[in-house]
Amino acid sequence: MLPEPFANLRRLRRTPALRAMTCETHLTPEQLILPLFVGGGPTRRTPLPALPGVDLLCGEDIPRAAQGAWDTGLKSVLLFGVLGPDRKDPRGTCSTDPTNPVCQAIERIRQQQPGMVVIADLCLCEYTSHGHCGILQGGQIDNAQTLAVLAEAAVNLARAGADMIAPSGVMDGTVRTLRQALDAAGFGDVALMPYSAKFASGFYGPFKEASQSTPAESLHCTHQIAVGNQREALRKIWVDVEEGADLVIVKPALTALDILALARERNCPVPLVGYDVSGFYRPLVETYGMGTSRCDALMMELLTCMCRAGAQMIITYHARQAAGLLR
Ligand code: PBG
Ligand code: ZN
Repeated sequence: MLPEPFANLRRLRRTPALRAMTCETHLTPEQLILPLFVGGGPTRRTPLPALPGVDLLCGEDIPRAAQGAWDTGLKSVLLFGVLGPDRKDPRGTCSTDPTNPVCQAIERIRQQQPGMVVIADLCLCEYTSHGHCGILQGGQIDNAQTLAVLAEAAVNLARAGADMIAPSGVMDGTVRTLRQALDAAGFGDVALMPYSAKFASGFYGPFKEASQSTPAESLHCTHQIAVGNQREALRKIWVDVEEGADLVIVKPALTALDILALARERNCPVPLVGYDVSGFYRPLVETYGMGTSRCDALMMELLTCMCRAGAQMIITYHARQAAGLLR
């Protein structure tokens, strides 16, 4: 019999076993990082309407949530502080307070589950009364003054027991400044995971609403990357690696699959982390309903695509649900 004039790709798709053995992308719960929103005050779980299925956690609900995540196979959480207006000021002073909600959450999770990788997001917009990501000077975010506060805030988080700090404000020189500050304070083992390729995106909307950190007028375009700029995003990844980043985040991952793929192809020497942001999570769970088979399938498809493009880890609000399915 003559060979077919075209390649027979269906040969390897014929049975479930053949499909399983030729599968190229394997997701595991260990790759998924669960974001947790933490507040101060007494134990209280408040649903965040902007992020259906995600709660603002306080007190003992925080270690409980971390333990629940651990029990589904997750190994890491990313903490975001949500502060009341009474704890915010123009300089984000609460970021350096050892009793702030994030520090307390780190300590509680450490006690509950010492094996958990505890990552603290660090940006001043969570702490400033104006909601900007840094200290304002003449209506603009001042790079140097912001770095000084961030350095102090990073040491504060390390002292509370953070394994890793994820600076999300993307001031220039953040990684070098934080590395030096942490090393000088004796926290050479605390890793830095900057949001290196962070685009000025509208897909952060639900997060900003949930974390109550929307500035009156956005200055994001002065420190985040314009969505059309691929070379600049790759440059920033390499700048951060040079400055000492241990891992780098690409965000929003779904609209930056090219960045993930190119960074990987160009042998980015540190792990690449994709952030599956709130603007993709919300419409999915709102349209198809959290936990429905339709929603689960679409969620797994999106996570698989981020992984295929080059993300070694994924920060996702779906982490618990996905881990449950992957076990
Ligand atoms: C900054 C931060 C933001 C997100 C994560 N960290 C908001 C922003 O940069 O404006 C967005 C994440 C999401 O949309 O899910 N603290
Ligand atoms: Zn910010």
